[in-house]
Amino acid sequence: MSFTVAIDGPAAAGKGTLSKAVAAHFGFAHLDTGLLYRAVGAKTLIGVPAVAAAEALVPEDLLADNLRTSDVAQAASKAAVIPEVRALLLDFQRAFARRAGGAVLDGRDIGTVICPKADVKLFVTASAEVRAERRYLELSGNGQDVTRDGVLADVKQRDARDRDRTTAPLVAADDAVIIDTSNLSIEDAIARAITEISAKTDARP
Ligand code: DC
Repeated sequence: MSFTVAIDGPAAAGKGTLSKAVAAHFGFAHLDTGLLYRAVGAKTLIGVPAVAAAEALVPEDLLADNLRTSDVAQAASKAAVIPEVRALLLDFQRAFARRAGGAVLDGRDIGTVICPKADVKLFVTASAEVRAERRYLELSGNGQDVTRDGVLADVKQRDARDRDRTTAPLVAADDAVIIDTSNLSIEDAIARAITEISAKTDARP
């Protein structure tokens, strides 16, 4: 039986950590849909048009080791504005969401467009400053040459582009539970998410 958890939110809100923890807790499969857009964005940086990159995307592309850089994140956000790119990535995401045994998908439009009937929808957010600080620590910890101001500007620019686009903008679904992690530890955020999901899994027939 399928059970879909949709986790959306802006850049660096903690969706990835939360999604992995939730998937491990319930034994669900996890798809970081941002990786699909990052893989397309990475191809555009070497001159492949975004639509052609999305058409030719193969699972191995998601394993490229440069997908976590700021340049690729920006390129992903730009490619994600193009409706054809989004349409090409739709079927893969929906098929993943329906897989037997349960699935967690995290992204920007999972609860609104990809899985509007998801069993649980969470919208994970935090202030831009808190998110930028977390992302700065992550990137600098990985040896990337970044500054706090640069990361904050990058996060704000991506937020604006992701929110203002016409197709599948970043917005909480009406029926999403909002989890603001600005003042929450990751452990508390995970516990909150597990409580929300357990309420629905326990109610299954
Ligand atoms: O989640 P992320 O930071 O890895 O995502 C990178 C970019 O991809 C993000 O700025 C916007 C785009 N994206 C999207 O438009 N829709 C999704 N479901 C996931 C990501």
